[in-house]
Amino acid sequence: MPTNFSQSYANYTEEGYPVVHLGSVDIILLGRWGGLSNALLSLHENHFFMAQYNMQHALVESYMLLDGSVEMEHDGKRRLMEIGEVVDASQYGRAITFYGKTDAEILMKMNAVTYEVIFFEMQILQKEAEEIEALDGYTYHHCSRIKDYSIEVWKRLDMSKESLRILRWGAYFHDIGKCAIPLDILNKPGQLTAEEWEIMKTHTTEGAKMVRRHSVEWLKDIAFIVEQHHERYDGKGYPYGLKGDEIALEAAIVSVVDAFDAMTTDRVYKKALLIEEAVEELQAGKGTQFNPEVVDAFLEVLETKQFKWE
Ligand SMILES: [Fe+2]
Repeated sequence: MPTNFSQSYANYTEEGYPVVHLGSVDIILLGRWGGLSNALLSLHENHFFMAQYNMQHALVESYMLLDGSVEMEHDGKRRLMEIGEVVDASQYGRAITFYGKTDAEILMKMNAVTYEVIFFEMQILQKEAEEIEALDGYTYHHCSRIKDYSIEVWKRLDMSKESLRILRWGAYFHDIGKCAIPLDILNKPGQLTAEEWEIMKTHTTEGAKMVRRHSVEWLKDIAFIVEQHHERYDGKGYPYGLKGDEIALEAAIVSVVDAFDAMTTDRVYKKALLIEEAVEELQAGKGTQFNPEVVDAFLEVLETKQFKWE
């Protein structure tokens, strides 16, 4: 755990504006002008932000690049934005992705009522995500990394925009059920006993229950991802032993990305594998543990990132 953990996750900026930290980006709520809510998107170098995943609410009116170098991608085409350029969101039916070539700042104007509800819900959710990461001994980037790579895999598969919204949060909260697991089991350095392992496995079903009765009502939509993220393609997973297409593609994506992250991260009970070793494990698990289509898409993503995992 970094020593600046609480500081880096403070819910207000030094100037007193509410903020959410989403890993690749910080979103700072500046206030309302002219009936619209203004938020500053602070995009970090070499990271991306996929906007308009909830376009069905016609949430965002426009984006304006204030500072830094940003490439914008829409329908597979990328181009550099100019400082001061205003992008009218209504012109874009599909999601836009912003890539930070440097640290950059983008001003978003949005429907105030809808956006502010979502913003404060995100703050609640983020606090909970921090708690989960702290519990599980992961670094604070774990949830964001799973989410970001899951989105990249989504882009390579033929899936709906609605599924992106669900996948995004499902990936972020897939392990929420670990809150219900006793800490001595969760962080046990040695092997779990059969009984402890049965308890550990309930983080899937317990997590699904938690999101179904969550105060952020729409979080119930992600319950199936939380529930299915340890199912295996060959039917030997848990909790239900679903197989093949019985497992939702969103859950299959989280399963691959999460497994890869677990393999390449030092944990209390094991040392990390090298990236090449983890890639071999994924290949070996194609069609048994993992959905082959998802593994292929994920390996393509890794290849575009020169097999760096960060
Ligand atoms: Fe899990």
